[in-house]
Amino acid sequence: MNKEEYNKKAENFEDNWFFDENYRPTLVQYLKEALQVKPTDKFLDLGCGTGVFTNAVISESHNTLVHGVDVSDNMIAMFNHKNENFRGVVCGLDDYAKQNKSETFDVVLIKEVVHHIKYRKQFFSRMKNQLNPGGQIVIVTRPQEVEFPFFKEALAVFAKQQMSVEELCVDLAKADFKTKVEKKSISVSLPKTRLLKMVKERFMSTFDYFDDEQLAKGLKELEVKYQNEDAIHYKDHLLFVKVTH
Ligand SMILES: C[S@@+](CC[C@H](N)C(=O)[O-])C[C@H]1O[C@@H](n2cnc3c(N)ncnc32)[C@H](O)[C@@H]1O
Repeated sequence: MNKEEYNKKAENFEDNWFFDENYRPTLVQYLKEALQVKPTDKFLDLGCGTGVFTNAVISESHNTLVHGVDVSDNMIAMFNHKNENFRGVVCGLDDYAKQNKSETFDVVLIKEVVHHIKYRKQFFSRMKNQLNPGGQIVIVTRPQEVEFPFFKEALAVFAKQQMSVEELCVDLAKADFKTKVEKKSISVSLPKTRLLKMVKERFMSTFDYFDDEQLAKGLKELEVKYQNEDAIHYKDHLLFVKVTH
């Protein structure tokens, strides 16, 4: 994934629906239940973005450094400002897997980024050495078929971009990891104007696949589809893959 595209996204990143008051607290709760972070846990956030969720998941008494890795310098700058214990570094995840570091972690979060890892086999075998005994990796991803209010071509690109969760679990099993998948859903309601603005600003990497003309055509399709609606309602289906030794 292109670093520049994510550097641009960083500016408006926290304006997206994921951070709304009617969405974020529910997701934070799901993450807390999945991660079960203890104050002494060494925490690694891969594809950490601006760190909003990780900051909400760790308790105020968290007393070890939280490490973050992200390809975008702008995301990392915002991550490092979020909490005095946050230490983010700019690095693509495939390059991160090539580095020979001996540091190990109790909790690893990989949220909404696993589909950007190109060499998953190499990546997960690195993770095998970085996860402490009794530790856990939580991968948050989505199914290939989603209910998002996107134009048709964008839904097709989204499906192609995501891998199936079965495929992901096979890759994890090859690295000798055990997996357990849980599906969670969150209801979303958005004013139509806001959705159109987010799509226009290419808020998700799905929209980076379209040039300006194609995107304008897609936006027109959405305007026609939702011409009688002021607000758009849908469900965001999330998959929590819990990964252990
Ligand atoms: C959808 S955002 C999720 C951010 C964060 N995990 C969260 O949930 O708030 C995806 C993040 O992954 C980063 N990213 C995309 N491709 C990457 C790659 N190949 N290596 C490292 N980070 C990447 C982006 O810069 C962005 O911050």
